[in-house]
Amino acid sequence: MSAEPSRVVAADGAKGELIALQAGVFGLRAIALGEGSFGALLDAALASVAGRHGRALHVRLSTAERPSDHASSLIARGFARVSERVEFEALVEGLPNDATSPLTWAALPDLADNTLRDAGRLLNRAGHGDPDWGDDDEGLELLKGYLAETGLTRGPECIAVGTLEGSPAAIVVAQVNHSTGVGRITYLGVAPECRGRGLGTWVHRHGFAMLKAQGAERYRGGTLANNLPMLQLFSLHGCAEWRRLEEWVWRKNR
Ligand SMILES: CC(C)(COP(=O)(O)OP(=O)(O)OC[C@H]1O[C@@H](n2cnc3c(N)ncnc32)[C@H](O)[C@@H]1OP(=O)(O)O)[C@@H](O)C(=O)NCCC(=O)NCCS
Repeated sequence: MSAEPSRVVAADGAKGELIALQAGVFGLRAIALGEGSFGALLDAALASVAGRHGRALHVRLSTAERPSDHASSLIARGFARVSERVEFEALVEGLPNDATSPLTWAALPDLADNTLRDAGRLLNRAGHGDPDWGDDDEGLELLKGYLAETGLTRGPECIAVGTLEGSPAAIVVAQVNHSTGVGRITYLGVAPECRGRGLGTWVHRHGFAMLKAQGAERYRGGTLANNLPMLQLFSLHGCAEWRRLEEWVWRKNR
C-alpha cells in the first residue's frame, strides 16, 4: 500500500488530497475549494476511491468552521457523521518524562514482517474498546499505514512495546514531521487486562519521550469525544484543546 497522497481535482476546480489509511480505506484532506464546491470535490474523491476499488472514505471537518451546507452535501452522497474528535496540543519541552514507569519499553528491533505482525497482534488487543476502533480495523494493516505516511518519521523507533513482568502490556506509535517540528502519538493502547490501574498515564508519557527523542517541538494528538479515559490523560498532562473535528464516513454497500 502506498500512502503517497494523490491529488483530487473536481470539475469546478475544488481540490483535495486523498490518502490511503488502510488497504481500501481512504481519507480526504487538504481541502481547498477556491471557486469550486464541496459537493463537486466529494464527487471527484468518491470517483477516485471507486477507481481504486476502495470500500470507505473518511472526511474530517472542523466543527467550528464547517459551513452548514457541507453536512447536506455529505448526507446526499451517503456519508454518515460517525463521531466528534477532540484534538489537543502541548509543547514537548513541558511534558512529563517516564523515568519511573513500571513498564519496560523497547522499540521494535526492525520492521521485518514477523516483527510487525507481532506488534499488530498487540495493537489489536490494545485497541479493543476504543470507540474509534472500527470492525474492519486490523493492527498490522494500521501499522503499515502509519509507517507509509509521507512527511513523518517511519523507522522502528516509531513503535514501542511496553512489558509488565515480561508480558506485552502496551503499545505506542509516535511519529514526527521534521519540517514542522510537530509530533503526533499516532496510537497508544493498553491491553484490556492491564487497564484501570494507572498504566495509561505511563504509556502516554512514554509517547512524549519518543517524541522528544525524535526531536519534536510540539505535540498534537486527539481522541473521540466519548473516549473518557483518553480525554482524562490529555487533561492530566496539561494538554490544551486545540480544535474539534467531525468525522464523516462513506462506506461502499457490501
Ligand atoms: C485509554 C487507555 C490507554 C487508558 O489506559 P488505562 O491504563 O486504563 O488508564 P489509567 O488507568 O492510567 O487511567 C487514566 C485516567 O482515566 C480514568 N479512567 C479510566 N477508565 C475510565 C473510564 N472508563 N471512564 C472515565 N475515566 C476513566 C482514570 O481514572 C484515570 O484518571 P485519574 O488519573 O484522574 O484517576 C486505555 O483505556 C486503552 O488502551 N483504551 C483502548 C485504546 C484507546 O482508546 N486508545 C486511545 C486512542 S486515541
